[in-house]
Amino acid sequence: MKEFNSRRQKLLSSMGEGVALIPTSPEVIRNRDSHYPYRFDSSFYYLSGFKEPEAVLLLVSGVQPKSILFCRDKDSEREIWDGFRYGPDAAKEEFGFDEAYSINQLDEIALKYLANQPQLFFNLGADEGWDKRITGWISHLRTKARDGITAPAKISDASQLIDEMRLYKTPFEIDLMRRSANIAAAAHKRAMLYCANNFKCPEMMEYEVEAEFLHEFYRGGAQAPAYTSIVAAGANACILHYNANNAVLKNGDLLLIDAGCELDGYASDITRSFPVNGKFSGAQKDLYELVLASQAAAIAAVNTKNNWNAPHEKALGVLIRGFIDLGLCKSSADEVLETGSYRQFYMHRTGHWLGLDVHDVGEYKTKSGDWRMLEAGMTLTVEPGCYVRPAENVPEHFWNIGIRVEDDVLVTHNGCEVLTINAPKSVVDIETLMQK
Ligand code: GLY
Ligand code: MN
Ligand code: MN
Repeated sequence: MKEFNSRRQKLLSSMGEGVALIPTSPEVIRNRDSHYPYRFDSSFYYLSGFKEPEAVLLLVSGVQPKSILFCRDKDSEREIWDGFRYGPDAAKEEFGFDEAYSINQLDEIALKYLANQPQLFFNLGADEGWDKRITGWISHLRTKARDGITAPAKISDASQLIDEMRLYKTPFEIDLMRRSANIAAAAHKRAMLYCANNFKCPEMMEYEVEAEFLHEFYRGGAQAPAYTSIVAAGANACILHYNANNAVLKNGDLLLIDAGCELDGYASDITRSFPVNGKFSGAQKDLYELVLASQAAAIAAVNTKNNWNAPHEKALGVLIRGFIDLGLCKSSADEVLETGSYRQFYMHRTGHWLGLDVHDVGEYKTKSGDWRMLEAGMTLTVEPGCYVRPAENVPEHFWNIGIRVEDDVLVTHNGCEVLTINAPKSVVDIETLMQK
């Protein structure tokens, strides 16, 4: 409660005069009367700690700043069907809001708080229904001019302020991210062991391995996968967003698994690539060691002396030299970089911010257009890779090998901490685990 309250105070003091309205996400129908598992809006949750749907946070700055929650009423009939809901009174006590009301009173009470405010913070353009409702309120207030009531003259986006706060993780958040990372690391280990124990069985399928790590996510206390998992064997690993996960694993294939879980809202995001039979072939090992070396160089560059782009540049430098050494690229390193010919094998960037969203919020550049400096408390992924599709200019022994190695990293005052350290990664660690 303290943590969420202090976030609201921080936002209130940086808003200037005005009112911020932050709704949570709606429930979404999957088909007919089945819903997708509910997921709250990350920024709403960040400021409230409240996980129920149909809720709105109203922050009113000024001499006496106020945090106001609107949520569903208690409903003994609905609670028999759908389970517990707080209701405004209990939510106010439990989450430390100054006031709490029924979501049915939103129009009436929001109008009261919006009257005579110079500014409304609201993320216009994200949801048509909300846009209409807000413009309705503004129009209504404008009709009250002769009663001496004014409507906010300015509508600003609060997300810039909130995103910047979310970028710097507190010890409370770091603890959750460490736990999320540990659950996901255990899940990747379980997937490796499952392959080691079952690869000789005929027709082992990608989804069987998916079932193994999902089991470990839920067993570890995670509420959901943090994103759609990729379980890509052999040539499928060269499809960056492959998620059919329904192919047979063949002896001799590498298996790329990109899967992370969500714990109390916080994502982990791990990729491991390992041989289904527990032993890297020569060509697989050459490329794997290269990706691993590029990742090590990138992680070494995650520190407060560097900007956001430094890890990517380091990874790219190592990959390009490796592509030349292995005969994948055939000109000088400078030329490969300049012409971008490396993109045949490495076509994505080396990471992203990580937090409540797997691709978390926060600017990557400063207002002047420079890459922003890394600072303690930021969390990011480091995920170089190499994807070799069959092509005339490529030695055949590398065809259809796709590799990515992805870890979650926290920037600290004296370097960085790899949160996902428990997911086996070196050739020797993977082979030893799988050949036990
Ligand atoms: N799993 C999403 C990503 O790696 O960016
Ligand atoms: Mn990622
Ligand atoms: Mn990933």
